[in-house]
Parts: sequence; C-alpha cells; structure tokens
Amino acid sequence: MTATLITNIGELTTNVEREGDPTGVLRDAAVLVEGSRIAWTGAMTDAAAAAATRTGAVVVDAGGRAVIPGFVDSHTHLVFGGDRADEFEARMAGVPYAAGGIRRTVAATRAATDDELRARLTGFTAELHGQGTTTFEIKTGYGLTVEDEARLARLAAEVTPEVTFLGAHVVPAEYADRREEYVELVVGPMLEAVRPHARWVDVFCERGAFTAEESRRILAAGSAHGLLPRVHGNQLGHGEGVGLAVAAGAASVDHCTYLDDADVAALAGSDTVATLLPGVEFSTRQPYPDARRLIDAGVTVALASDCNPGSSFTSSMPLMIALAVREMGMTPAEAVWAATAGGARALRRDDVGAVAPGMRADLVLLDAPTRVHLAYRPGVPMIAGVWKDGERLS
Ligand code: NIG
Ligand code: FE
Repeated sequence: MTATLITNIGELTTNVEREGDPTGVLRDAAVLVEGSRIAWTGAMTDAAAAAATRTGAVVVDAGGRAVIPGFVDSHTHLVFGGDRADEFEARMAGVPYAAGGIRRTVAATRAATDDELRARLTGFTAELHGQGTTTFEIKTGYGLTVEDEARLARLAAEVTPEVTFLGAHVVPAEYADRREEYVELVVGPMLEAVRPHARWVDVFCERGAFTAEESRRILAAGSAHGLLPRVHGNQLGHGEGVGLAVAAGAASVDHCTYLDDADVAALAGSDTVATLLPGVEFSTRQPYPDARRLIDAGVTVALASDCNPGSSFTSSMPLMIALAVREMGMTPAEAVWAATAGGARALRRDDVGAVAPGMRADLVLLDAPTRVHLAYRPGVPMIAGVWKDGERLS
C-alpha cells in the first residue's frame, strides 16, 4: 500500500473537536496517509516514529504552510448545456433574477449530446479538484423529461456518488398549463427512471417553481423509493421550504436567504443542515443570508457553491468562504468548517470533511501559513496541493 507523510504543517485543521475548538487545529503537525485513508495525525516531532513502519513512504514537506480537509461542495447543478451570460449581464443592469430562466438551460441541455455533457462534466471535475473540492454533489433538473432526467443522473453518477434527482426544478414549458400532470410524471415514471442512478431527491419550493403541497408530495414519493430528501427553500422570499424540509427530516435545506424566527427555531431543533450558497446572492444582487443568526441559534451551517449557469456560475469554495466571512458574519474558522465538515453533514457522510484516522485521505495544502488567508486574500490562487483518496491530484 502506498503511504505519504505530509510533515512540517504549520496549521492543520482536523475538524476533530479539541479543547472547545470544533476545527481541532494542530500546530507543527504531520499527517500519515496509507492507501486511500488517513492512518495517523499528530505532532511533527512524532511523525518519524509514526511513519517508521511504512517503508518507502513519500515525504512531503509542507514548509510550515496550512493543511485543511478537502472541500465538500454539497450543492451543484453541473450537468447542463449552454450558459446564460446574457442573463447575468442584464441582471447587472437591473433585471431581477427569476426561476423561469431555468427553462432556457433546459432547452440547451436537451439539445446537447451525452458526449458534450460528459466532456463538460470532465472539465468541471478538473476545475473543482484544482480548487480543492474533493467531494461534490450534482443535481439533475435541466432535463425535465423522463429520458433526459435519467440521462443527466446517469452522466452525473459517472463523476460522483452524490447524485440528486431534481425533476421538480421548474415546471417545463410544455406543461405550463398542466402542472398537476407534470407532478404526476415526476412522482411516477421520472422517479422510477432516475432512482437507480441517484441517492437524493430535491425540490425547488419557491414562488415560480413548486408549492409546499407539491413539494411535500414529491419528497414523500422520493423517500418511498429509497431516496433521501433535501430541499431548495427560502431563496427568493419567505416561504414554507424550511418548515417542510425539517418536517420531512431532510439532510439539508439550501439557500435559507429569507428566514423568520420560526424557521430558525425549527432548524435549531432539528438534524437538518442549513446550507448557505453565497455565490447566488453575489450573482443575483440579493441580500446575503444571515449565517451569524443561524449559528448563534445552534443551527448547523454548511457552505456550498450551487454552481449552475443561472444563479451562481462559480465552483470556487474559497470564494464562498471569503463571502461568508465578509458578508455573512462568519469567522474564518466557522466558514472553513462549514465548507468541509458542514458539507459532509449536509450529505450525511462520515468519511469526509475531517482529518482523522480512518477518514478518506482528502486533503488540501494551502500556499499560506493559515486558513484565514482563504478569506483574507480573496481571489488569490492558494491551492498548493490536493489529495483525494490518498492520491495526489495536483
Ligand atoms: O439553486 N434555485 C433553483 N435552482 C438554481 C438556479 C438554477 C438556474 O437559474 O438555472 C439555484 O439557484
Ligand atoms: Fe441549487
């Protein structure tokens, strides 16, 4: 089994709680990787003894720089055709964002071949890895026919085990006057066709997309077929998304931009993660969600990119951290936790998001002495090394 010893780490974020610090920082630390898993973490001075039994371990000198767990991006929409740069440009000139733009991407995606979508997915995978994201989720939702939704799920499953069925993204144009029929299709043949390729079911519960009643029905049908629920809610205004996500036992409710006190209380008393997607507010000129309020109320918060061609065409988790710190009241430590361990919670994964023996060896070496630089030096490339399942990717 191949082994790697990363030593001389100035600041190691383990996310294993230690002395009241949820991010479990170790100074002057080392990590031993064996095969695809973490074998040991500890003080650099103990590293030689820890590695002694592993002959031929590759030694990487971190040079006093920081190491963090690989980012876990729990919310993306990466299987699509075309882009909507024109819509973004119009928005920056004052046109508001509306859910209806999704239909344009649906048309472009239906027109794309498998190979075109696959090539794009391969490119995005490299883009994410290069920025330190080692686990990511992908939603369907730009097909909206039985065949196209199954196709998108199948293609997404080629690059990630975290595939989400989002047939309830928007009612497609051809069903505009027959929305009940579309919901029937989603909970019937579409769910049946997508289920073999997916782990999750999601619904966009929002004005202009799906009502709370429709959303509950779709989540229940997905659950009955063995898919685990998650929800897009409270993105464009106040609504029932958070309440129904908590009631359904969803792993996560995503966006959470407009929350009232009852939403915050419901989240605080639940296992549902609030996943905040600041790339959306950045790209749509909406107010940012109030992460401070959620964290102070005891809610588990995750950060994700929501990478999609409409509301947030960025896959940069460092940007999400910078926005969360600058605009949403999070400390750098909270933001890094939310982008790693928080994402893992949102995906109900206990093998990623932390650096501890037995966890997957997904690690990022920063070209900086501390993780604070992710927010302190926004927009500056600082990913010096990425390991996924013990393999060095860059
Ligand atoms: O998460 N909210 C719904 N879906 C995406 C936007 C998709 C689009 O505009 O194409 C989102 O923001
Ligand atoms: Fe989304």
